[in-house]
Amino acid sequence: MNSDKYYPYKAAPLGYDIKALSPHISEYTLYFHHDKHYCGYVEKLNALLKDLPVMQNVPLEGLTKMNDADIRTNAGGIFNHELYFASLTPEYREPSARMKRKMQESFGSPENMIKLLYDTAMDIVGSGWVWIGEDQGGRLEILTTKDQETIDLDKYVPLIAIDMWEHSYYLDRQNRRSEYADAVMNVINWVGAENRLSDG
Ligand SMILES: [Fe+2]
Repeated sequence: MNSDKYYPYKAAPLGYDIKALSPHISEYTLYFHHDKHYCGYVEKLNALLKDLPVMQNVPLEGLTKMNDADIRTNAGGIFNHELYFASLTPEYREPSARMKRKMQESFGSPENMIKLLYDTAMDIVGSGWVWIGEDQGGRLEILTTKDQETIDLDKYVPLIAIDMWEHSYYLDRQNRRSEYADAVMNVINWVGAENRLSDG
């Protein structure tokens, strides 16, 4: 989704009102998450690349797999958060028949997939992400990454990213991570996920 993005990076606005996900995710949490955490990655990556013209010509997706940990982390911080905010919606809709068919083909049933997504999110230790990716054969997979690592974008089309870092929920729910996982399931943007499928 970010393949055409290059230095200098500009923070993308939220695609919805900052209060729109409440009560699932509060305005307060979204403000810090978007305006401070995410925008912080944009500022840091721009500062890191300021004097590195060769890196300025590498697209954001390429930077997410650089050996340089600072560049990789801050590029991942941008890519992952942009997909996270796009993975949420105040206008929740059930997965479409087409999306449900994909879930069934890959996991036996949509319910199995959603339970596995939830359980995988809950099993993450420390800071990390849970993803729904589409592999090159068109099958859905649930994947995890640590810190600000991004899934392998050569192997998967990323459909959904869920931020399981504490800053995603601590202001609202303190240590009650399962409440956050429940809340996220109420605002997953299945329409957006379907639009990102490789065959459109
Ligand atoms: Fe985050």
